Amino acid sequence: MIKYVHSDIRGPLYAKAMEMQAQGRDVLKLNTGNPAAFGFGLPDSIKRALEGHLEEGVGYCDFKGMPAAREAVCDYERNKGIRGITPDDVFIGNGVSEVVSFALQPLLDRGDEVLVPAPSYSIWGNSAYLASGRPVFYTCDEQSGWYPDIRDIRSKITERTRAIVVINPNNPTGVLYPKEILEEIVEAAREYGLLVFADEIYDRLVMDGLTHISLASLAEDIPVVTMNGLSKSHCLCGYRCGWMVISGPRELTEDYRQGIIQLTSLRLCANTLGQMVIPDAIEDMETPASMVRPGGRIYEQREAGLTGSSRTISVS
Ligand SMILES: Cc1ncc(COP(=O)(O)O)c(C=O)c1O
Repeated sequence: MIKYVHSDIRGPLYAKAMEMQAQGRDVLKLNTGNPAAFGFGLPDSIKRALEGHLEEGVGYCDFKGMPAAREAVCDYERNKGIRGITPDDVFIGNGVSEVVSFALQPLLDRGDEVLVPAPSYSIWGNSAYLASGRPVFYTCDEQSGWYPDIRDIRSKITERTRAIVVINPNNPTGVLYPKEILEEIVEAAREYGLLVFADEIYDRLVMDGLTHISLASLAEDIPVVTMNGLSKSHCLCGYRCGWMVISGPRELTEDYRQGIIQLTSLRLCANTLGQMVIPDAIEDMETPASMVRPGGRIYEQREAGLTGSSRTISVS
């Protein structure tokens, strides 16, 4: 299946950029959302969380993740309205990327299909191939505010469809989905018995007074795997810190959960230093909030992008 795996921004464009850089040309890399490369530093809360605790991360930890981290994630996701979960439903990984790479494997048999948004964040479609499946792309239509086209989604569901991926807020479109759109997707998943993967890594970077709704909070009766992490909210991409939370009726999720247990235990554990900062990061909602309010770096960059203004944005 590796022959189908392809990503322009992680493949040919990246290779070209490296080539140009080797020739001494200055290359601005927008292929990866890597805040540190643009001057976003380590938040004080994270610095404090690590101070004096480095010894605690020396050994392997539980393959699901460190207990304090799983408890903090569980509280966070419960506060987002996801009901019926315990820390046992939380699996910490080396970034959302790693949990995505596990996520499809227990679910797919050869040729099974996963509905994936287009335009897309490339790891999802490629992970479907790597799990012996096939991504089927549904349209997020620019003419409709980049919202997922529910009719297109429904028209692409076949007897091989196993799951639907929802990235909200979306990368690359940047759009936040309203409750009605999420409910329509949940309804289709319910009707056809699909598992929903909700990639919500940008949920704390929402602007303009809007509120992010966790898809799983609208879908207590169906299996949902919610993904999130600290790469964007706390600019900690390099710490490789992400998680997945399995929610929904236990009888529908048990086999899947066992598959995830096998995969995560085979790789022993996720990076412990990243996990050690999770409780403090989740406590520190000021860091993401400060970036997306007026005067904050991300807010001001968005404004500059929209208005074409060239005023200087200070790096803080
Ligand atoms: C939608 C989406 N999901 C997942 C990831 C991967 O994040 P991580 O650094 O946690 O692996 C990204 C990174 O840009 C992303 O945009």
